[in-house]
Amino acid sequence: MGGGVLSQLLGFFFWGFLWLAGPVAVYSGGPGTSGADAVAVVVDGTAAIAVTDGDFVCATLDWWPPEKCDYGTCSWGLASLLNLVGSSSACYAKSCMLQQEIDVLIRHSQCFLFSFMQNLSNPILLNAVKAFSPLKLRLGGSLQDKIIYGTGDPKPQCTPFIKSTSEMFGFTQGCLPMSRWDELNEFFQKAGAVIIFGLNALNGRVTLSDGSLGGPWNYSNAAALIRYTVNKGYAIHGWELGNELSGSGVGARIGADQYAADVINLRSIINEIYQGLPDKPLVLAPGGFLDTNWFTEIISRTKPNSLDVITHHIYNLGPGVDQHLTEKILDPSYLDGEAGTFRDLQRILSSAGTSTIAWVGEAGGAYNSGHHLVTDSFVFSFWYLDQLGMASTYDTKTYCRQSFIGGNYGLLNTTTFRPNPDYYRPASHPTSFCCGFTANSIVY
Ligand SMILES: *[C@@H]1O[C@H](CO)[C@@H](O)[C@H](O)[C@H]1NC(C)=O
Ligand SMILES: *[C@@H]1O[C@H](CO)[C@@H](O)[C@H](O)[C@H]1NC(C)=O
Ligand SMILES: *[C@@H]1O[C@H](CO)[C@@H](O)[C@H](O)[C@H]1NC(C)=O
Repeated sequence: MGGGVLSQLLGFFFWGFLWLAGPVAVYSGGPGTSGADAVAVVVDGTAAIAVTDGDFVCATLDWWPPEKCDYGTCSWGLASLLNLVGSSSACYAKSCMLQQEIDVLIRHSQCFLFSFMQNLSNPILLNAVKAFSPLKLRLGGSLQDKIIYGTGDPKPQCTPFIKSTSEMFGFTQGCLPMSRWDELNEFFQKAGAVIIFGLNALNGRVTLSDGSLGGPWNYSNAAALIRYTVNKGYAIHGWELGNELSGSGVGARIGADQYAADVINLRSIINEIYQGLPDKPLVLAPGGFLDTNWFTEIISRTKPNSLDVITHHIYNLGPGVDQHLTEKILDPSYLDGEAGTFRDLQRILSSAGTSTIAWVGEAGGAYNSGHHLVTDSFVFSFWYLDQLGMASTYDTKTYCRQSFIGGNYGLLNTTTFRPNPDYYRPASHPTSFCCGFTANSIVY
C-alpha cells in the first residue's frame, strides 16, 4: 500500500520534472516527415496504470558450455554458470572445473589462456553486477532441464555437459558440483545480487502417447539442492520450475494439469525446508512462451497460493540468423506486435482473480543466441527500452534480459566483461530510478 503511494509520488516527481523541464522534443521519422519535427509530449502524472517491483531490472545467466554454437558461431565462451568467474586461477585449474571442461578449453587454447587472466575477483564483473544494487539474476535456460545437482543421498555422479548431436539441445546431461555452487553464491553475496534459480523439471518424466512428457516430477534431487542451499545460509529469492516446457514446449512439453501438480509439490517442499525461517522464497513457473489455454489452466489449478510468479519468455524478433533484425528493431509497429502477449497475460491474471503476478523471466529478442553486431550493439537498445516500457505498462513486475553475459545479446562483452550499450539502458529508463515505478499514461 505505502509502497504504491510512494511510487505514485515518485512517478509524479519524475514526470513532473520532465514537465517542468519544458516540452520534450520528439523527432519522428515516419513516412511523410522530412527530418525533425518538434512534438509536444503531455504526461498525465496523476493516474497510475501499473506498478513494477523496485528491482524491476533483471538479467539471466545461462548454462551453455563453450561448445554451444549457432549457425557456425560459438558465442558463449566462458560465460556459463559452470565456468564464469572462477575465484582464482588455481581454482579454475582444479576444483571448480571438471576435467572434461578443462579438456574442451585446452582444445580452445585461447579461451584457456583467458581463463587464467580472469577470475571471480575480476573487478569489472563484480562491479558490473554491484552497480545495479541490487540486480536480479535469473539462473537458467534450456540446459537447466538437463542438469543434476551434485548433492543428496545417493550423491549422483557429477559429470559435465558433453556435446552430442543426438541429444535434446545438443548436449548430454550435466551436473552442478556443490563446490561450484558455493563459489557462485560467494560471488552473488559479494555483488549483492538477488537470485532466482531455475530447477530441472524433467527428472522422472516418461513419454506419453501424445508425445508430451508426463508422470510426476521427481523432486528428490531438487529438494536436496534446496536443502543444501538453506543449510549453507545462501539467500535465494525464488525457485523457478522448468524452462520452456509449457504450451507446445521447446524440446519437450508437459501438460498444464501435471505441471500444476508439480508446482504444488515444489511449494510444499519449500514450505517444509524453509519452515521456521523468516524469509520464504518465491515459487515461479513455467518460464515458457505464453500459451493462453495452458497459462489459464496452471493459474487456476495453482490457486490460491502455490504460484507466486508466472514467468514468460520473449523472442519476438525471430532467429538470430535473420538478416532483417535491424529493420524489425527500428519498426515501431513491429515492436508493438508484442503488446498482445502482455495484454493477454494481464487479462488471464485479472479474470482468474489470482494473487499470482507476471514477470518476463527471459527475453533476448532473437533466439539461438542473438546476432553479433545487432543484439549486442547500440541499435538493440530500441528493442530493449521499448520492451521495458511495454512490460511495465502491462503490470509486469520484473523483466529479465537474456543475458547478463554470454551469447550475442549480453549486457557485458563475453570476453572483456566491458559493458555493451544495453548495459546502460536500465539507468535511462524510469523504472530503475527507485522503489517501484508507476507507469503513467503518456499522451502524444
Ligand atoms: C584475479 O584478477 C585480478 C584482477 O584481474 C588480479 O589482480 C589477481 O591477481 C587475480 N588473481 C589470481 C589468483 O589470479
Ligand atoms: C527419484 O530420483 C532419485 C535419484 O535422484 C531416485 O533415487 C529415486 O528412486 C527416484 N524416485 C522415484 C519415485 O522414482
Ligand atoms: C567484445 O570484445 C572483443 C575483444 O575486444 C571484440 O572483438 C568484440 O567485438 C566485442 N564485442 C562487442 C559486442 O563489442
